[in-house]
Amino acid sequence: MKTITTLIAAVTIALAAGNCLAADAKHGKMLFESPALGGGTSGKTCLTCHENGRDFSPETLTRPTYTIMGNPVANLSGVINFCIEVALRGEAIPEKGEDMQDLIAYLSVLIKENSEKPQ
Ligand code: HEC
Repeated sequence: MKTITTLIAAVTIALAAGNCLAADAKHGKMLFESPALGGGTSGKTCLTCHENGRDFSPETLTRPTYTIMGNPVANLSGVINFCIEVALRGEAIPEKGEDMQDLIAYLSVLIKENSEKPQ
């Protein structure tokens, strides 16, 4: 019983900590519009090519695998890093880092906004 109580306490603390660190879509938007993301050198930003959510759809967040410019990529962070490396000519950012979480949080907001617009 004591073990279960300890376990519940641990999970509660972990969840609370998770909430404090919740991904910040506002910061994600800044990164999305920054040519300096990943130390980019092409002068492009995510917005240059993906204005108004171009190329994005609700499936963007949940595809089992991605194909980008003919290359198979395993997950969403990998796709974002592909675009950072190839399009921004920068360096990949940590897949589990805060910037990546914030970018993905902003993508979710952007995609949701677009899917609610009248066609
Ligand atoms: C030079 C243009 C360009 C820039 C800049 C660019 N991308 Fe892309 N992006 C693409 C192209 C092209 C695709 C693939 C479209 C395809 O093959 O269907 C793509 C695909 C994606 C996808 C996958 C969409 C899907 O549904 O499979 C995501 C997510 C994405 N980009 C995010 C980003 C982010 C975040 C940035 C900024 C770091 C960025 N892109 C910058 C051109 C660009």
